[in-house]
Amino acid sequence: MSGRLDGRVALIIGAARGIGAGIAERFVEEGARVVIADNLVQAGEETAHRLNGRFIKIDVSNFEDNQAAVALAVSTFGSLDILVQNAGIYPWTLIENISPEEWDQVLAVNLKGTFLSARAALPVMKSKGSGRMVFTSSITGPRVTSPGHGHYSASKAGINGFIKAAALEFSSYNITVNGIEPGNILTDGMQEHRSAAFIKMMEEGVPLGRLGTPRDIANAALFLVSDDASYITGTTIIVDGGQTLPEGKDFRLTPP
Ligand SMILES: NC(=O)c1ccc[n+]([C@@H]2O[C@H](COP(=O)([O-])OP(=O)(O)OC[C@H]3O[C@@H](n4cnc5c(N)ncnc54)[C@H](O)[C@@H]3O)[C@@H](O)[C@H]2O)c1
Repeated sequence: MSGRLDGRVALIIGAARGIGAGIAERFVEEGARVVIADNLVQAGEETAHRLNGRFIKIDVSNFEDNQAAVALAVSTFGSLDILVQNAGIYPWTLIENISPEEWDQVLAVNLKGTFLSARAALPVMKSKGSGRMVFTSSITGPRVTSPGHGHYSASKAGINGFIKAAALEFSSYNITVNGIEPGNILTDGMQEHRSAAFIKMMEEGVPLGRLGTPRDIANAALFLVSDDASYITGTTIIVDGGQTLPEGKDFRLTPP
């Protein structure tokens, strides 16, 4: 059976678990070969093993680590066609309590990591004359926000700006750059960092009546890296079950 990504090589950063692992799994189903890059070693190795891929331990906020991940894709599979930078952290802290160190850490992983991964992947894609980059942004920052998300919101809004700039600069190399803005997706990270009460509140705010799954995001990522999206660059897809649509709290249709 032929897949939509047959023969493609994908580097997926932040793919040991959660949304990133879902993206890697979906890409492999469509014929891609994958390198899983993450700072979680055991989960990363397990995911790579399950998907017949390779694992490399990296800290996405370190440039040499990003370069090593790109080099592993090229030395193992002979190329790099797709970069997904999905690694992100989301500590919950009110702005009045965010230390300068915590601010720097969130921006270093989420935003600087995005730039560094693109910077590391660019030379290979440029010399090949084609490439696809997809970055995991969020609705939080670009569209909406809630208390405790000051640094996170800034980092994700920054990713959207970077997507536009990179898309423009890389267009002459036939490299597209896009992003996904997930709503609330039930993942290990979400369960570690958010209370059950917060998760229930979010669920109640989703018009489609459920939280998202990693596969919901993976399907959007697949579209953006597939041939079907060859004329799409510099934009993002919101995947949030309609969460950002309501004007107010009372959005459900009630019987007259
Ligand atoms: N879950 C949600 O509701 C949601 C909503 C919007 C956006 N997002 C974004 O989606 C992405 C994935 O979120 P998730 O919920 O799957 O989280 P998760 O914690 O389950 O997975 C994130 C992965 O990134 C890895 N990672 C973290 N820091 C890293 C670093 N410095 N270097 C390399 N790898 C690192 C983690 O080890 C983990 O495997 C993040 O960018 C997050 O901001 C998530």
